[in-house]
Formats: sequence, structure tokens, C-alpha cells
Amino acid sequence: MVKPSPACREAILDIKPYVPGKPIEEVQRELGIKDVIKLASNENPLGPSPDAVMAIREAAEKIYLYPDGNCYYLKQALAAKLDVGEDQLIVGNGTDEILKLLGEAFVDPGDEVVVADPTFSEYEFAAQVMGGRVMKVPCRDFRLDLEAMAGAVSPRTRLIFVCNPNNPTGTIVSRDELDSFLDRVPPRILVVLDEAYYEYVTSPEYPDSLAYVRGGRPNVIVLRTFSKIYGLAGLRVGYGIAHPEIINSLNRVREPFNVNSLAQIAARAALDDEAHVGKSKEVNNEGKEFLYEQFRALGLKYVPTESNFIFVDIGRDSREVFKKMLAKGVIVRTGDIFGFTTFLRITIGTRRQNQRFIDVLREVLSEVP
Ligand SMILES: Cc1ncc(COP(=O)(O)O)c(C=O)c1O
Repeated sequence: MVKPSPACREAILDIKPYVPGKPIEEVQRELGIKDVIKLASNENPLGPSPDAVMAIREAAEKIYLYPDGNCYYLKQALAAKLDVGEDQLIVGNGTDEILKLLGEAFVDPGDEVVVADPTFSEYEFAAQVMGGRVMKVPCRDFRLDLEAMAGAVSPRTRLIFVCNPNNPTGTIVSRDELDSFLDRVPPRILVVLDEAYYEYVTSPEYPDSLAYVRGGRPNVIVLRTFSKIYGLAGLRVGYGIAHPEIINSLNRVREPFNVNSLAQIAARAALDDEAHVGKSKEVNNEGKEFLYEQFRALGLKYVPTESNFIFVDIGRDSREVFKKMLAKGVIVRTGDIFGFTTFLRITIGTRRQNQRFIDVLREVLSEVP
């Protein structure tokens, strides 16, 4: 094939494409097995809110119309629930889109972006796509080291990403830690508090991040999503809460119809379905205790989680264990993508899924020394 002469921007040559969790259908197709469970992408094992599904059915015939580019009704519902102004909200095609908008709006080539290591990989992407430099600050005992992150600030720093709870470790930073961190960070730097797993947190130490946005911290943006506890990952809806000026900057680089109409309608319905959120938390808390107990029985060390996934050290090459588990129809995530070659990241599933995962893990561990 003839090589095309138009070359892409040099800044993007180092970007490694995102490696998503393997889809169930792909595993079914490749291995010719039907009974496959996925505990790899931190989705809600109970599925979506039934109210959201009903709302989509009712709205399906309207899809010939463009969606509301301003997400008016969804923003109205979010503003009322969160006690913020509608002008303090941006809705994105998943939080992923908002992360990219943050890069596009705030990072010039050569600017620096501070992230933890390990953490969610899309922060790095948001910086790299704009030619920004990523400053990685190692976690301590699997927790974000906010002191060191504040210490990594330079005159070129534009964004700091604080994933709370952190993916893949499931740990949180406390209110006190975040308060002192924000006191140290110069106001010209935007601090991104990614709270994708906010609804699962049980610790009383967890910060009330919206209090920062409401009360005089104009350099903070909070990100949340409908992909996790609300069970709408396939629809792609996430949102950000910040000072109207920050929102204004993000809207400059946002596409006009970035959130589709079914996603907007389903998210509104899901937001009101407190029973589904409550049940999802309950199942998660039960599953967490069950898995802790099973890991202890297997002699495996795990990181206690504030989220719907657990980072567990299986003490052997996790890729090999992953492949063998996959062949038995259980999809998990390997730690090597985060630099932890003997770890797995497991989404907490339903009781049956958790039991099947443990049965298969036990079998595979006995096959892999
Ligand atoms: C910490 C974190 N932020 C953001 C996202 C992306 O969420 P969304 O589906 O809203 O794009 C994820 C998804 O795994 C995540 O783990």
C-alpha cells in the first residue's frame, strides 16, 4: 500500500490508544462460549434503572430530531439535585469527553499536567492530545500523594487531576488532605476532582467537593458520571460542576450536539430512581465484604476500596491468569496497564457473579504457580 504523504501532528505520535475492557460479545465470538461475565469495566451489575429504559422506549420515535444542544432539562434536574446553578454545569458524551474538553480549553503545547501514578489513563490522553507534558506523581500505599502532587507544580502547570476514589486503587483522599492541598495550589491552576465513583463511597472522611465549587474555590471542577452506579455506560453521559467562567471556557470547544437525546432522557429518569441507586449500593457493599473474605481465605492481599472495584495482588503474572480466566468465560482487568503486573482489578458483581469469579480464580491460581 502506498504511504500517504499527509502526516499527523507530532504531538500525538506518543499517544497509546486506550485499551478498553474486552466486550462480552467479543469473548463469546472468539471462544465460542455463551456464558460470559464481565467484571472488567466497573459497570453496574444490576444494569440500568428500569425507569431509564422505559423513558428511552417512550422517546425512541423522536430520534429524527436533533437533541437539545444545551441539555436544558437534564441540567435543570441536576442543578436542583446538587443545589448549583444551571450555568455551573456542563454535560458531556461521558466524562471522557469532558476530560478532552479540559485539555482543549486549558492546555497549550509544552504546558504541564499533574496526575497520580497509577490513575485513570484518560487524563494523560487529555494532555497529550494538546502537546502537553504529563508529570506523574507516584501514589503512596496505593493512595494519591497530594503533598507530592502539590510539590510537582511548576510555572507551566495548568491542570491537576485528582481521581477520588482513584481508579484502579479504589482509595480516597480525605477532606483534610484535600483542604490543605487546595490551599497550596495556586488559583491559576485548575484542579479536576474526578468523582466517577462518588455514589459508592462509604467513608465519613470523603470531602464534600461541591462545597468548594459553591463556596469560593473557582479553580475546582468536579466530574461525575451516569456510567457507573446509574448503569448507563452505553449511552455516554457525564457532567461537570464548576464556576460559570470555567463552564464557559469548556463550552467554547464543545460540539453543538454532544449528548444524544436518548442519553439525556435516560439520565434524567435515572437521576430520580433513588431505589435503584440504593439497591446498587447495597449489592456493592455486600459483594465487597464477600470478596474481601474470599481473598483473605486465598491468602491474597487487596487494597480496601471505596468504590465498585477491588485492586488485588494475585502474586503471579496477571496476564496469564487473565487469559485462563477468559477461557472460562470470566473477563477481568490486568494490572499491567497500570504498571502492576501481579494485580487484577475486579469489578464487584452480583452475588452469583462474585461466586463464579472466585470459583474460576481459585481454579486458575492452582494452575498458574
Ligand atoms: C475515574 C474515571 N473517570 C472517568 C471515567 C469515564 O467515565 P465515562 O463513562 O463517563 O466517560 C471512568 C471510567 O472508567 C473512570 O474510571
